[in-house]
Amino acid sequence: QNTQAIQRAVLAWFDRAGRKHLPWQQHKTAYRVWISEIMLQQTQVTTVIDYYQRFMQRFPTLDALAEAPLDDVLAHWAGLGYYSRARNLHACAKLLQAENGGEFPLSVEAIAELPGIGRSTAGAILSLGAGYWAPILDGNVKRVLCRVAGIELFKQPREAEKRLWALSEQLTPAKRHADWNQAMMDIGATVCRRGTPVCKQCPFSGHCVAERTQAFERYPGKKPK
Ligand code: ADE
Repeated sequence: QNTQAIQRAVLAWFDRAGRKHLPWQQHKTAYRVWISEIMLQQTQVTTVIDYYQRFMQRFPTLDALAEAPLDDVLAHWAGLGYYSRARNLHACAKLLQAENGGEFPLSVEAIAELPGIGRSTAGAILSLGAGYWAPILDGNVKRVLCRVAGIELFKQPREAEKRLWALSEQLTPAKRHADWNQAMMDIGATVCRRGTPVCKQCPFSGHCVAERTQAFERYPGKKPK
């Protein structure tokens, strides 16, 4: 079946070419993955690495973050920009310490209600950090799936979002879901790049509408101004 063939190809690609040595991929916990995902929302991996390591030295646990003064958190964020991210992190840590024993809740719905955390980040925290099955759909994964399925994101954005989430859910394997999710982010960042993708290196090759039609600009397409 198509889904299984794709899952096998993507996981084999991950074993061969996926990123496995990023700092947040070591000693994985919901807390560590959460901090990395928030930093990575608007900042490149190479920049994030240093900030992440300094942040983790100063705030190694959710309790340490909750108990630190906001100014200290902001000081460790200086240079990353989008400071509301740091304010939300701090608020979120305080909230979880006060109301949930310093732990993340274990459902996408509950995590996605926390300040600064959307559905995809919630999925990443659960899957990459806590070992629970959950699909993701960040910007990179969206681009990959739009191309694979031939979805023009901006024609009917609500419909498209629904289709993309359904597709991500359908493709995410029961086993190795964390490797799958990391693979999809890595494929988006390194193979299925904005502009011209490198289809000959892609595990979706042979299963992709954009490759078949060579219409890379059409999927996902450009956001109307
Ligand atoms: N961007 C968002 N999450 C990421 C991750 N886990 N690895 C690399 N890039 C990312």
